[in-house]
Amino acid sequence: MPTTRKRTTPARGGAAAGIEALREEIRRHDYFYYVLDRPRISDAAYDKLTARLARLEAEHPELVTPDSPTQRVSGAPSGRFAKVRHAAAMISLESTRELDDVRRFDQRIRAAMGPRTRYVLEPKLDGASLELVYERGRLVRGVTRGNGTEGEDVTPNVRTIRNVPLRLHHDTVPVPRRVAIRGEVMMPIDGFEALNRRLGEHDEEPFANPRNAAAGSLRQLDPRITLERPLEVIAYEILDVDGASFDTDTGVLDALRAWGLATPDRTVTGATVDDIRRYHEDMARRRDRLGYEIDGVVIKIDDVPLRRRLGSTGHHPRWALAYKFEPRVEVTRVEDIAVQVGRTGVLTPVALLRPVDVGGVTVSRATLHNPSELKRRDIRVGDMVRVHRAGDVIPEVERVPGRNGRRRAPFRMPTRCPGCGTPVEPRGPMLACPNTFGCPAQLKRSLVHFASEQAMDIEGLGEETANALVDHGLVRSLPDLFALTPSALCTLEGFGEKSANALVERIRARRAVELHRFLTALGIPGVGPAVARDLAGQFGSLAAIRDASEAELRETPRLGATRAADIRAFFRAPHNRRVIDGLLRAGVRVGAARARTGPWAGRRIVFTGSLRGYARAEARALAESLGASVGESVGRTTDIVVVGEDPGEKLEAARRYNVPQWTERQFTAFLKRAGVRGKRG
Ligand code: IVH
Repeated sequence: MPTTRKRTTPARGGAAAGIEALREEIRRHDYFYYVLDRPRISDAAYDKLTARLARLEAEHPELVTPDSPTQRVSGAPSGRFAKVRHAAAMISLESTRELDDVRRFDQRIRAAMGPRTRYVLEPKLDGASLELVYERGRLVRGVTRGNGTEGEDVTPNVRTIRNVPLRLHHDTVPVPRRVAIRGEVMMPIDGFEALNRRLGEHDEEPFANPRNAAAGSLRQLDPRITLERPLEVIAYEILDVDGASFDTDTGVLDALRAWGLATPDRTVTGATVDDIRRYHEDMARRRDRLGYEIDGVVIKIDDVPLRRRLGSTGHHPRWALAYKFEPRVEVTRVEDIAVQVGRTGVLTPVALLRPVDVGGVTVSRATLHNPSELKRRDIRVGDMVRVHRAGDVIPEVERVPGRNGRRRAPFRMPTRCPGCGTPVEPRGPMLACPNTFGCPAQLKRSLVHFASEQAMDIEGLGEETANALVDHGLVRSLPDLFALTPSALCTLEGFGEKSANALVERIRARRAVELHRFLTALGIPGVGPAVARDLAGQFGSLAAIRDASEAELRETPRLGATRAADIRAFFRAPHNRRVIDGLLRAGVRVGAARARTGPWAGRRIVFTGSLRGYARAEARALAESLGASVGESVGRTTDIVVVGEDPGEKLEAARRYNVPQWTERQFTAFLKRAGVRGKRG
């Protein structure tokens, strides 16, 4: 009927425009959050936007498009992955560990290309290689590397990776008709460790390293599983493009960034072998602090026509070389095997090693995971073992066969908890101490976790102090922490008047705590910092979470049934309720969120060196009160570095990244203008 159509069309047109505008806004915020790591709005405001979009799309299902932010998970689990050919072969890199090979490479390039050759130097990301295909700006395919010519079509999984735009941005660099992009799927180390813990809690096999975890997560048949995995894609090459051309690799990287993709951090250009050597050294030094795994650097010719002239051997391009780091493996002896009691009572066998330097870090212990893993590896006291270390990941050991002569008897797990003597019980593949509330070993670990940086962030309350507090009976339960006095602390070895005062002061200062930090601090099974943030965003207050039913908990984004049940059970347990009540009675105020407004809202500030007028924690709190987020390392997204006396290498980084540097005086003047003042200022 023509009349109805006339009435519906404009209404629908209005809805369509509204929906599209909302999608654009959400995409923009996804980019700020997942690619730049620099959110511009609160999680709650973001959730409101997505809820509104979901509502509008539910009212107008005909307007739902595959590139809508609501459509990251779509379709049912597949039976298997289809094989697809890559737009261009995904060849790998020639690699070396020798500077001499780098010299030869450079000579060869210069001989062929002339003296003005310029290199792009990038980290060699240790993840899983992936092809992303965009047609008219829409993500149409994600393909694993496979054998280099064809790989597996894992599109539904790639769509769940939040830093992969479903639609390329087109505001500054035009989007070509079709482009195939090569990148690396990475799992950040903290996410990897949390995933392994979660798998362990559910009796599932942990991954050996972040690369395997990334590759394994990408090849899940059910995209809802991939969605829960902390994956990121970092793009570094254009495999093939139709409707655009690039003269330099620098231009390619700029375009990738302009389209909304993440590119390798700390990419620089260089001209000489010396530049390459320095970059390699610099990255090797940073390796453990990047938060993700790299295993070397990649040297590439910047000039794209030159690359074409050089071509490739079929296996490797002649225009690039991977300059890898020394492997982090050493051999040492197992001096003893100890059993550690974790926060939840789980017993972990640990190899105590003759200390050995593995790639610049002294390793003296390595986990042997659980009784069956211990048996499988058959590691005994006195054995020689190979120690592998990867990033900040806990070192792994394996026995070096044939070097052990007469061996000792196999190690046996204890039948009683080494912390409190209670008979141990099996818990999944592990053994555990069931004395949850009375075991001092468990309390020590809970304290350390409670005070950790992502939780209550009480600087100076590490393992040693926690052990002493429990051993001397100063802390019998978490709330006791807030009743500590300087004179009581002074009775502990290593504490003087000054340090005791300082610790008590820091504990007091942390009584006002954001909800997500408090949730993290409680050590609820399956609730790490990310889940805690989701919960805080969903419920807004401790009371609401505490009283939520399992069904209500399940409405939290990304929260599965198991975790919802665990959280519910945690808050129902009388002991946990007593501890929480005790903390609140001790003066802990939960939910006092840090300002997201103020003159420094959305800014990233880093402090380096010591400030005369402020303790570090105070400077941090002042910056945060102005809306800033305070970081520990300087990167591309840092806005200001405040430089004190004896600045560390953060200052060098600030120079390299062209980050504005402020003196303490400028900082103080800024605070004054903003109407805040420090204790001493
Ligand atoms: S360029 C044709 N750049 O390392 C050259 N690769 O064999 C394409 N990788 O399979 C590769 N970081 O998956 C390039 N910045 C980077 C890289 C990188 C990691 C991976 C890639 C490749 C392997 C080397």
